[in-house]
Amino acid sequence: MKFFADTAEIDDIKELAATGLLDGVTTNPSLIAKSGRDFMEVTKEICGITDGPVSAEVVALDHETMMKEAEVLRKIADNVCIKVPLTIDGLKTCKALTSDGTMVNVTLCFSANQALLAAKAGATFISPFVGRHDDNGFDGMELIEDIRLIYDNYEFGTEILVASVRHVTHVLQSAKIGADVMTAPPKVIKALFNHVLTDKGIEGFLKDWQATGQSIV
Ligand code: E4P
Repeated sequence: MKFFADTAEIDDIKELAATGLLDGVTTNPSLIAKSGRDFMEVTKEICGITDGPVSAEVVALDHETMMKEAEVLRKIADNVCIKVPLTIDGLKTCKALTSDGTMVNVTLCFSANQALLAAKAGATFISPFVGRHDDNGFDGMELIEDIRLIYDNYEFGTEILVASVRHVTHVLQSAKIGADVMTAPPKVIKALFNHVLTDKGIEGFLKDWQATGQSIV
């Protein structure tokens, strides 16, 4: 499963990229606003940190303007992935862009039928929002299971990008279901490394090692 960072914070992206485990980045208008940076400038900077896809979202609601915005965004770098909302105009834009070889991430997916439409529109990625789904009394992971089943039934190439990930259990469940990608805030990705028994084990090994009086280097 690929790991994308869901953030526009440069320091966090650099820190995660340095682990060698980061496969891409997703942003959205709220994350750009939170960063306080210029959209074009920060997106270009992110594209220079990772070779993987960097999702940059259009803000227009009509197909024609979405295409104009996508034209500007895709000039930022070769690894920009245009993010469009799951609407009729968004999927028209998806179809036009992917037919032309541009990567597209269809965002704000909350049903398996929506995911089916996105796949038919040739989406590179579909982003079902599991956290927001859970918040509203639905089961986010059941949605991922349904999409996996449908995509496998018809051998769609669209990658399932689990979004709105809130905790490490979402990551584990996504991997068990066989999602292709998950995007999570840096603090969730960093939490994946932690286990109390790992810390305790290191502490015990170091204590015993120090008692030997030896050194490796
Ligand atoms: C995905 O691409 C979105 O940016 C993101 O996962 C939204 O997450 P949120 O529900 O925590 O805002």
